[in-house]
Amino acid sequence: MEKKSKITPWEVEGKINYDRLIKKFGLSELKELPNVFNENVLFRRKIIFAHRDIQRILEAIKNKKPFVMMTGLMPTGKFHIGHMILAQQMIFYQKLGAKVYIAVADLEAYNARGQSLEESRKIAMEEYIENYIALGLKPCEIYFQSDRSKDAKKSNAYYRLQNILAKHTSFAEFKGVYGEVSPGKMLASLLQASDMLHPQLPEFEGLVPVIVPVGIDQDPHLRLARDISKRIKKPKFIQLSSTYHLFALGLRGDKMSSSEPNSYIALTDSPEQVKKKINKYAFSGGQATIEEHRKKGGNPDIDVSFQYLKMFFEPDDEKLKDIEKKYKSGEMLTGELKKYLIGKMNDFLREHQKKKKEARKKVGEFLKG
Ligand code: TRP
Repeated sequence: MEKKSKITPWEVEGKINYDRLIKKFGLSELKELPNVFNENVLFRRKIIFAHRDIQRILEAIKNKKPFVMMTGLMPTGKFHIGHMILAQQMIFYQKLGAKVYIAVADLEAYNARGQSLEESRKIAMEEYIENYIALGLKPCEIYFQSDRSKDAKKSNAYYRLQNILAKHTSFAEFKGVYGEVSPGKMLASLLQASDMLHPQLPEFEGLVPVIVPVGIDQDPHLRLARDISKRIKKPKFIQLSSTYHLFALGLRGDKMSSSEPNSYIALTDSPEQVKKKINKYAFSGGQATIEEHRKKGGNPDIDVSFQYLKMFFEPDDEKLKDIEKKYKSGEMLTGELKKYLIGKMNDFLREHQKKKKEARKKVGEFLKG
């Protein structure tokens, strides 16, 4: 029997059926998008696959009106290739003119994981922010939940909003949205709602549309924030927009997880580590013997190496299609596919690791708030 799946903002287990979640959560599939979006691999290849109210953002972009991209990170473990999906969206929207807000969820990590604020700060700076910069993020508004701003007016507004939001929800609503609740998780949910809504306050950007790109496990937070904000007359909010991306595939074919080093490729891995991890762990959609593979061919849909090329390392559609065809027909063997991926990954990581060293000097520019 298939393992029962469980999906909450704090726990993801078992196999994820995205189509079912789209229906259950009431999301819309991402269909026709303007060209600038389709130039991006993540949108073109449906790695970002669903949304709520993205129209408002598309209009802002079309009419060159201000908008905010707001998202957050839980600073645990190492920064791995799965984290690039969100990083690339930050950079994408920034290039389109968005004002970028990024919350480091150190209070949430404390509440949900018992991780100290000091540890969170260190991981956020050395792992996440340095990598964001190396990937191309330019100065923007990055803040820690426990330390919103040195400007008291701004800081007060952010924490005040969390309390205003609390007044407009109920215990029953929490139970409905999250199933189980603890005081810490209630506070974390309300703080995340404040993360997502506070850019619209007069102390920040004023009334502008906000797009929140997240993994689908975060949708309960969006539902709560959207529903509460509708009930508040003052301050007024424009309804939040959001998009949802796939979880990055782990090496063994399940979810990539920071707490499982053999499930991911970290952006600090050496060429030897990459080679070893891919060869040893990357789940193969190929056949057991060469003879059988030549006869039946491989299955790229479940092949982790092929999926990594598709998600991250082969932006050329023609080339990807060619690999897919050859692998399916049995002309290309798993070993050859892995070798190609390892080459691509190591080329990328070599460049990236150089940029990350440079990025270290720039972190301060990102934490001015
Ligand atoms: N809960 C998110 C996570 O676990 C982190 C987060 C905090 C966040 N505040 C946010 C995400 C606001 C999106 C928007 O990764």
